[in-house]
Amino acid sequence: MENITNVMEYEAIAKEKLPKMIYDYYASGAEDQWTLRENRNAYSRILFRPRILVDVSKIDTTATVLGFKISMPIMLAPTAMQKMAHPEGELATARAASAAGTIMTLSSWGTCSVEEVASTGPGVRFFQLYVLKDRNVVAQLVNMAEKAGFKAIALTVDTPRLGRREADIKNRFALPSNLTLKNFEGLDLGTVDRTNDSGLASYVADQVDRSLNWKDVKWLQTITKLPILVKGVLTAEDANLAVQVGVAGIIVSNHGARQLDYVPATITALEEVVKAAQGRVPVFMDGGVRRGTDVFKALALGASGVFIGRPYVFALAADGEVGVRKALKMLHDEFELTMALSGCRSIKEITRAHIVTPWDALRVTPRL
Ligand code: FNR
Repeated sequence: MENITNVMEYEAIAKEKLPKMIYDYYASGAEDQWTLRENRNAYSRILFRPRILVDVSKIDTTATVLGFKISMPIMLAPTAMQKMAHPEGELATARAASAAGTIMTLSSWGTCSVEEVASTGPGVRFFQLYVLKDRNVVAQLVNMAEKAGFKAIALTVDTPRLGRREADIKNRFALPSNLTLKNFEGLDLGTVDRTNDSGLASYVADQVDRSLNWKDVKWLQTITKLPILVKGVLTAEDANLAVQVGVAGIIVSNHGARQLDYVPATITALEEVVKAAQGRVPVFMDGGVRRGTDVFKALALGASGVFIGRPYVFALAADGEVGVRKALKMLHDEFELTMALSGCRSIKEITRAHIVTPWDALRVTPRL
């Protein structure tokens, strides 16, 4: 484990350690997995235009997200059911995020509750929300997160139905019976059968509301004071609607390529959304971030920060809290080095002119 030099190396260890059903659940994308590959490949088509002879003896990687100062613009995306990866699950993730000085987003479908995560100690945390048909349950969830000191709601808007992940279908994926979706345990769920845990998990899955629409975002604003980020925006049209509705921020995401296959890589969709938002709200992104260079490219395209999913889940599976800490440190150090080698001393010095993309190739054709 000491020999690990980049976050991608945790995946092979996780694959070896985890039962096939669980590894496949974490690793898979939807259908042909074209978007899954493209989420990575698209970064390799964006190149740097580094500036030289800038005094980079001091580099400041700190960023501000919704008013919270964090050590770097790299945060943890919500990923469900982390106790399948490691017995400490979301608690280990929370401790590692806090030690790294960054933000963790807890999934609605966590195997630890908001209270348990809060009890790990101080740290800025967001709560990811799946809206269920029973709005009374949704209100209880949001209230619980708010009471536990979570600072924002990341409302997932790309999952009216679950994408078709064929490995999960083949493996008949189910939450192992010793685990449960902890956030729902203490709620008043009406008629659900609580006699066994799989009853609760299948209740929650069946309850995801396919009718979710912009009016519900308005409703959500009436039941909480927390800022709301919409997670799963991929177009200028929806960025505009999100701003009109009054969200606090937008997360450009394709759910780690687990929902609609053949949507573009998020790094490709990002600039369209940034342009539409016109600086009215911050735009974040996730999907395929594995290197400090990826983070820099996202910031150059206008992101205020990025989130990672699988890299920390695999690090958690491989080495628990220590693994997640190391993954965050490696990404931090790579990002800092990228800044130095590009001539940027702070986040605000990273500009669009520091990269060149396939869609602006004409602008900088070298004259030979
Ligand atoms: C996810 N994602 C996710 N998103 C969400 O809003 N709620 C959730 O419960 C989950 N659960 C989840 C589980 C697993 C195993 C993965 C891989 C992903 C999506 C996640 O928040 C994020 O959008 C992607 O993971 C980002 O892409 P990368 O970093 O995994 O490539």
